[in-house]
Amino acid sequence: MSQEVLLLPGDGIGPEVTAQAARVLDWMIDHADLDLELSEALVGGAAIEATGEPLPDATLKAAREADAILLGAVGGPQWDSLPMAQRPEKGLLGLRAELDLFANLRPAILYPELADASSLKAEIVAGLDILIVRELTGGIYFGQPRGVEERNGVRTGFNTYVYSEPEIERVGRVAFETAMKRGKKLCSVDKANVLEVTVLWREVMTRLAAEYPEVELSHMYVDNAAMQLVRNPKQFDVIVTGNMFGDILSDCAAMLTGSIGMLPSASLDVNGKGMYEPVHGSAPDIAGTDQANPLATLLSVAMMLRHSLGQIDAADRLERAVQSVLAADHRTGDIAATGETVIGTQAMGDAVIAALQAQ
Ligand code: NAD
Ligand code: IPM
Ligand code: MN
Repeated sequence: MSQEVLLLPGDGIGPEVTAQAARVLDWMIDHADLDLELSEALVGGAAIEATGEPLPDATLKAAREADAILLGAVGGPQWDSLPMAQRPEKGLLGLRAELDLFANLRPAILYPELADASSLKAEIVAGLDILIVRELTGGIYFGQPRGVEERNGVRTGFNTYVYSEPEIERVGRVAFETAMKRGKKLCSVDKANVLEVTVLWREVMTRLAAEYPEVELSHMYVDNAAMQLVRNPKQFDVIVTGNMFGDILSDCAAMLTGSIGMLPSASLDVNGKGMYEPVHGSAPDIAGTDQANPLATLLSVAMMLRHSLGQIDAADRLERAVQSVLAADHRTGDIAATGETVIGTQAMGDAVIAALQAQ
């Protein structure tokens, strides 16, 4: 029986980059013996326009039934004044929560051809290969109470930063297990000098370390971690951190690789079922202009083939194709050096398919 992949294009550049993913998957179905069925559903602003809700029941049902999900991006200025619970971003957050996708893997790898696209000096980023494990269904994103209310005549906004021990432990285990398969170095990032919730975070990570004696665990405050990522990113192998710190640090890590348009991600549940998405957003400033870099999405497809669909050869093949288009100097605007020829989203999709064909 075919495996089912649900595409959720979303908003802005989301549909432009997922269209390239669909073309690549269709090519692999036709030419590489991949037995997949693709379907599509609405999420985010696109779903609000069609149904009034950012995460329609039909989408959630399709997501539960699919073997894997590929999401483009959600959000845009036209929905920014809606109440929080009705905004496009709630569609994405709802999927993560409903499917219990607590472990978000965000690899930041520098392709050697892009050393000059990074805003850091080439020698600082050469050979960079780090992985951020971001907790995705807890922390300040989901803590209660939250809101804006009048307190003593003053409008006051509040959110709650909360983690239970089991929530910390399960993402910690993913991080230690992942570190075991890589360089066996794990840095847990927190703010344990100020926030009790992260004192508990640090305690749990330290306790887990006893079960993984081969992994060298270190701890770092988040402000220092942001600085160290820019100062000397290659000191890191795996970083594990909470939801909001992971959001911020992964955009920072993206720039080490040349562009946010290069960073893929996998969001996994306890059984390895996953939703895959580029780390970037809907990029309203370039939406509809064929300028978006689709490689973060195509690399997310590779992660999906590897982690959820058991198609390791196809994943390797797609990653090799991405590498060869970069080696052949195909560049969207975000990764082009001054004076280099720039191609569009579609043309980058064409180049990857041609590279697959050439293998
Ligand atoms: P963004 O990531 O959308 O864009 C930041 C900058 O990076 C922009 O200049 C954009 O043009 C550029 N960029 C992003 N992706 C690119 C790509 N593939 N190729 C080339 N350039 C790219 O972040 P933002 O502007 O802060 O947010 C815009 C909207 O996206 C907001 O509504 C936000 O909530 C949403 N968002 C969604 C997701 C998601 O769906 N996973 C992630 C982040 C932001
Ligand atoms: C991301 C995005 C989301 C997040 C938003 C759109 C809800 O920034 O996936 O990095 O903050 O998690
Ligand atoms: Mn983000």
